[in-house]
Amino acid sequence: MTELSKLQDELTGRARAAADLAALEAVRVEALGKSGSVSELLKSLGKMSPDERRERGPRINGLRDAVADAVAARRGELEAAELDARLASERVDLSLPAPPQRRGRVHPTMQTLDEMIAIFADMGFSLAEGPDIEDDFHNFTALNFPPKHPAREMHDTFWLAADAAGERKLLRTHTSPVQVRVMRGGQDKLPAWIANGQAPPIRVIVPGRVYRSDSDATHTPMFHQLEGLVIDRAIHMGHLKWTLDAFTRRFFETEAVVTRFRPHHFPFTEPSAEMDVQCDRSGGSVKIGQGADWLEILGGGMVHPKVLANCGLDPDEWQGFAFGLGVDRLGMLKYGMPDLRDMFSADVRWLDHYGFSAFQAPNPATGLS
Ligand code: PHE
Repeated sequence: MTELSKLQDELTGRARAAADLAALEAVRVEALGKSGSVSELLKSLGKMSPDERRERGPRINGLRDAVADAVAARRGELEAAELDARLASERVDLSLPAPPQRRGRVHPTMQTLDEMIAIFADMGFSLAEGPDIEDDFHNFTALNFPPKHPAREMHDTFWLAADAAGERKLLRTHTSPVQVRVMRGGQDKLPAWIANGQAPPIRVIVPGRVYRSDSDATHTPMFHQLEGLVIDRAIHMGHLKWTLDAFTRRFFETEAVVTRFRPHHFPFTEPSAEMDVQCDRSGGSVKIGQGADWLEILGGGMVHPKVLANCGLDPDEWQGFAFGLGVDRLGMLKYGMPDLRDMFSADVRWLDHYGFSAFQAPNPATGLS
């Protein structure tokens, strides 16, 4: 029937030509919607005589199927095209630079400590540690500070409140109490990780935090020391000087470092000395090996016979030397930081500037800094 085939051509043609899904939907509603042209034809079947219906029914149904197929086919094409367009426009551009990422930095104190440990490890020292909260015995008494002696006042001690037994603990003012813990070994009945006790010969270094009520450009209430202790037979002051000079040259990675030993007093060493490094702190930075300034970096001396005896060692059989190095101060000197307080001010801009890459593992063989 020409009328029906004309309508079919028109509707399928419009479906095939629909430019997008909305246009296609309009064609579908116009033809197959509730009052669409094809739907109306289907409705008209009910009013026909049986003969007429038999003749026209299959043609009208055929028209409906042809239009529905054309719409479905075009919908498939349009959806595929839409997906292609999205895939093209939403593609991730891998050539774009990644957004900046904050990277953590190693604090100069920890870098310095790692470097120091590497050098002393190379010399054959092993590592010991002790608690930050100490008792009077280990921090003072065993180290030959007499009770009520003014030498105790040299250290501006942070005392803790008295415990139930009336004992006042303290924040250790130096790493020297760990000398006592190492030499006394098992006598203190402490957990193994603290005691690190050993029989002589002893060659240990002890890194750690120490605390004193003090604050200016070269003092902070918390700072870091590295203690050294050597106990053996026939050890003398020359061994101490050689060890510290060799350490200093290696640490600063130059022969040009100038050091000086000054006689000093510590209750736990005899004789005692302090060592200074020559530097120039005039221009807002620190330069070593030149200038009119001397920065004290350590105290040391021969372990006092009374300290050996307090730790159960016979001073006629054993001697040794000990020293305590200021870790942060050595870092200041090596890396040119003028003010010690900046090291603990937790300013991330400072750390970005002075911090170190986490992938830089200091090692005396391949270079420290
Ligand atoms: N403990 C001393 C201080 O903190 C340094 C020191 C250590 C001196 C070992 C002699 C021997 O000042």
